[in-house]
Amino acid sequence: MHSNADLADQERVLHSTAIEHHISRRGAVNFAHRDVWGPREKAMGDPWSPNNPNGTVILRLAENSLMHEEVGDYICAQVVLHLKLQAESLIPSIQTKVLPVDHLTYSTGPRGSRRLRRAAAALLTEQFHARSLITYDNILVTPGVASAIDGIAFAICDEGDGVLVLQPLYNGFKFDMQNRANVQIVGVKFEGVEGFGGLDDLFRPEVNRKALEIALQQARKAGINIRALLISNPHNPLGRCYPPETLKEFASFCGQHNMHLISDEIYAFSVFANPEIPSAPNFTSILTLDLDKIIDPSHKHVLYGASKDFCANGLRLGFIFTKNEGIIGAMSSIGIFSWLPHLLQDAWAAMLEDKQWMERFMEQKRQLMLDRYEMTTAFLSKHDIPYYEMNAGLFIWVDLRHLLVARSQEPDRGALVRSSPDAQLSLQLELRFTEICMENGVMIAPGHVYMSESYGWFRITFTVGKKALEEGLRRFLASIKKMKAECQLSKST
Ligand SMILES: Cc1ncc(COP(=O)(O)O)c(C=O)c1O
Repeated sequence: MHSNADLADQERVLHSTAIEHHISRRGAVNFAHRDVWGPREKAMGDPWSPNNPNGTVILRLAENSLMHEEVGDYICAQVVLHLKLQAESLIPSIQTKVLPVDHLTYSTGPRGSRRLRRAAAALLTEQFHARSLITYDNILVTPGVASAIDGIAFAICDEGDGVLVLQPLYNGFKFDMQNRANVQIVGVKFEGVEGFGGLDDLFRPEVNRKALEIALQQARKAGINIRALLISNPHNPLGRCYPPETLKEFASFCGQHNMHLISDEIYAFSVFANPEIPSAPNFTSILTLDLDKIIDPSHKHVLYGASKDFCANGLRLGFIFTKNEGIIGAMSSIGIFSWLPHLLQDAWAAMLEDKQWMERFMEQKRQLMLDRYEMTTAFLSKHDIPYYEMNAGLFIWVDLRHLLVARSQEPDRGALVRSSPDAQLSLQLELRFTEICMENGVMIAPGHVYMSESYGWFRITFTVGKKALEEGLRRFLASIKKMKAECQLSKST
């Protein structure tokens, strides 16, 4: 909670920022508080490689670089093969190749290429096992899922409205909802909720239901108009999938409270069999479930993209599935501002249409992911660093609470809980450890950015090249040693 004096101070700073740069108040808010990419650019532009030993090992971003070569080769082959066939007058009548000259007009406009939208509808029908008929009219292509979130927030919310998200949460949701649409994320807390005792409980239907009802009541009391529940399934940052019962509970909650349910399923094919958690649920899409009697079908939306499953963050490929014509029309009206070239859309469509290639690609990727996961967890175990076992996503939720507690004279885990009055020191220590990692040339993500309810958790990406991973883990361990030394020093002084 901010006092009136704090708010007045903040307002003064924003006002002077707007004057200094000759920008609007909203521009000043984004400049001052919401630009996460600008400050990272230096480190991102200087990534570690065997030829650049002083570069930064980036284990902070949810990127999968394990199959970059395959994706690059596939795209090149699509274009080159077409040109070769053309030169030999052997162009096949079926449209399987990607041809630049087909994409120099406005074509079918900002809703996306018909080819990709058909391929996306087929993907949802065949691979996500959608229960109802999906056609290309239900798909709107966006430059990445971040853009889909921005678009849907703009379409379903007014400024100041809220969207519920379960904690811990993918931090990008905040920026995607806020930066343009001015929609606030309302975190759903679990501490103190009956039945909650640890991370596994965050996937249980009854615990989620209770937490959601409490969060909704509190938001209403605070005068926030809640329009939707946004989930990440598989979960970022926890790396697990929701079981069908919990997904049904989400739908039922939204149905009863007349809210939208937005399911971000961007990690649908980044799931692998982790032998340590054999009974962890596999991925189930909300499209697979029979929810029609529980929630209005036009209030249920799925987001998907190529960034994670197709190892292609930089291509900016995504789409939204919805049966809500109002949302499609509202997003289409502003689609011209962020329109993904149809040439690239068709490159992804070609991958989706090529079922054999996709199957091989996903299988190879799963094996590589398991290999890197085991390499990382073996390292963590060897050095007695606890972590949460996962089977989905690109990152591991690492538990360094002992490191933060070790600093205080009287170790007390209560001080790690965000709502505790002593939490400020824990936050500072979490920030300090992240800073030490940066000083040591490895970028990792502190848990507070995911609104973790307890300080001391960190998210580490493991889907990077073997050598980069080895180097990153070595630097991570060196950072832990340095943090311990600092803690010892401060305890003895
Ligand atoms: C859950 C989730 N949704 C969306 C995104 C952003 O995806 P895109 O690159 O398609 O914008 C991310 C990226 O980390 C993510 O983890």
